[in-house]
Amino acid sequence: MKKITTAAWLLATTTFMLATALHAETPADKPAKTVHGEYKDWLTLSVSHRLDKHLVRSVLGNDIAIKAARAGKTKPWPDGTIFAKVGWKERTHPNWPQAVVPGEFAGAEAMVKDSKKFAETGGWGFGHWEGDKLVMNDKEKSATCFACHTPMKDNDYVYTVPVLQ
Ligand code: HEC
Repeated sequence: MKKITTAAWLLATTTFMLATALHAETPADKPAKTVHGEYKDWLTLSVSHRLDKHLVRSVLGNDIAIKAARAGKTKPWPDGTIFAKVGWKERTHPNWPQAVVPGEFAGAEAMVKDSKKFAETGGWGFGHWEGDKLVMNDKEKSATCFACHTPMKDNDYVYTVPVLQ
């Protein structure tokens, strides 16, 4: 009888511990899993924190972008360059509220360099990822992207200064 009680107690304790552990793994403050595009294998050029929209971002580059950044050949960036600006809503770390860390995924935008194809918009095509698919924006939407990147004309329309190459 005693054995059974001990076994039952052990089972109850284990179940409780497991439930607690499972709960710790799925709290509301943990960002949901997201399908990302090929940029998840790219290297970091820089990060940014947008104060007005409460977003944190990582700006990543494909191989061509990283090579150009390392060689300092970014004016202009070579054809074939692709940037990904990947954003998350900001949140404070649940165990360390002084730290701002990524929360819910907010989206991934792209700039693709092809000086012939996108000649009208400074050689840059503007797009975004839908799941793991890169979708280029239509002309109208690209024009609004390009307009806001125009102040950076002398920097090949690019805001990001590579800090990790
Ligand atoms: C209101 C101004 C504004 C608009 C509109 C805008 N951008 Fe940007 N973009 C920025 C700024 C500022 C940065 C610098 C990094 C940041 O803000 O996080 C940037 C950075 C980027 C980057 C990383 C390369 C770089 O230039 O630093 C990509 C990729 C990008 N934007 C894509 C887009 C796309 C695609 C659109 C249109 C859907 C767009 N942007 C519209 C202001 C803008």
